[in-house]
Amino acid sequence: MSEIEDRLDELKELGLYRRMRMVSGPQGPRVVLDGQPVLLLCSNNYLGLADHPCVREAAADAAMRWGVGAGASRLVSGTMTIHRRLEERLAAFEGREACVLFGSGYLANVGVVSALAQPGGMVFSDALNHASIIDGCRLARAETFVYDHCDLDHLAWGLERLEDGQGAVIVTDGVFSMDGDVAPLAELVALAHEFDARLVVDEAHGTGAVGPGGRGACADAGIEGEVDVIVGTLGKSLGSYGAYAACDDAMAAYLVNTARPLIFSTAPPPPAVAGALAALELLAAEPRRAEKLQANALALREALAADGWDVSGSATQIVPLIVGDAALAVRVCEAALGRGVFAQAIRPPTVPAGTSRLRLAVMASHTKAELRAAAKAIGAAARACGFQPGAADVPAAPAPPAAPEPRRSIAAPEAPAPAGVFDGEAFERAA
Ligand SMILES: Cc1ncc(COP(=O)(O)O)c(C=O)c1O
Repeated sequence: MSEIEDRLDELKELGLYRRMRMVSGPQGPRVVLDGQPVLLLCSNNYLGLADHPCVREAAADAAMRWGVGAGASRLVSGTMTIHRRLEERLAAFEGREACVLFGSGYLANVGVVSALAQPGGMVFSDALNHASIIDGCRLARAETFVYDHCDLDHLAWGLERLEDGQGAVIVTDGVFSMDGDVAPLAELVALAHEFDARLVVDEAHGTGAVGPGGRGACADAGIEGEVDVIVGTLGKSLGSYGAYAACDDAMAAYLVNTARPLIFSTAPPPPAVAGALAALELLAAEPRRAEKLQANALALREALAADGWDVSGSATQIVPLIVGDAALAVRVCEAALGRGVFAQAIRPPTVPAGTSRLRLAVMASHTKAELRAAAKAIGAAARACGFQPGAADVPAAPAPPAAPEPRRSIAAPEAPAPAGVFDGEAFERAA
């Protein structure tokens, strides 16, 4: 048997094997999944705009007008009028001077973090940040200090140990992608000011979903003008594909000159850009979409809580149901599918070991009745698998320790990561 097959077998034994399920038709609140009609409860198409007629039409028109591909990187011949138009519109939406489009949120985070982190500097990264931020830290020629989740004391402890003149970047998810909690943004701004650090906030799950008019968690905290770079994606609430960095003019010019995924990758395709622009116009015209999303999220959380689940960690449209064991999470997911609800099981290395979960994602296009019925179906599925809702003894987002401890850096680990399929997990979560 080949080494690859051995590794696949290892993943299967650990309950960590993944396969792709297939959706037929567009990404609506209900889809046909592998031939079976289900309620879709794990899509980031939060506002239901991916299949909105205006968004589809804008993308189709753009394909006819500008073609399907941009043909080159932004810095060669790939910058087209439609890119500039969306950048201007997004800068206004974010209340910033400038905006730079990237190919995806993954690429934007990798590009922004690695561009801002100088050799000899230090990146301060929340322990539950998205993998794209972690990979940006890996690419950066700076060291990384991973502070405990949302633990301001631990972060301050690390910042106090910066050497004179050592550049610092603090980077955090705004809304945490697997837990649905929100970073303490105002406090992070204060620490960034105090220690002369740059602050980057990834609004992947905030843009369009939370804050006034869906302008994100930074706008909700009133600090959008005080963040050096806000990263947002076009692939979630805005129903398309791609991403952006909103910042001031000088920072935009710096990113254009230094962010490698922007320099060395083809510009986003015109239909995706035009689709996102149409979605942004819809959001501006109908800001209540974001309110509807959060009202739906509340209805789902209430229904889940009534059935025994602990959903107290989530304040948003992302609602994790922790079951703990990876294989059990898959069984509950399958049992829920059997009851017509698709809520994907999320396992290590995406989440820390022992916190496998169903990650529920609400859409504005769900009805409250659908969400209440889904909560019942998931509870019944869990019980059928022998799991009592709320019985997991681990919180979704681990509580910070009483006394801050130093963490080894990502750039210079104290000990080699253990061999095997956990390499990535050990690196991402324990480093
Ligand atoms: C917090 C966060 N940042 C960035 C990304 C990457 O965005 P994209 O899907 O546009 O690459 C994701 C995707 O899931 C995410 O959850």
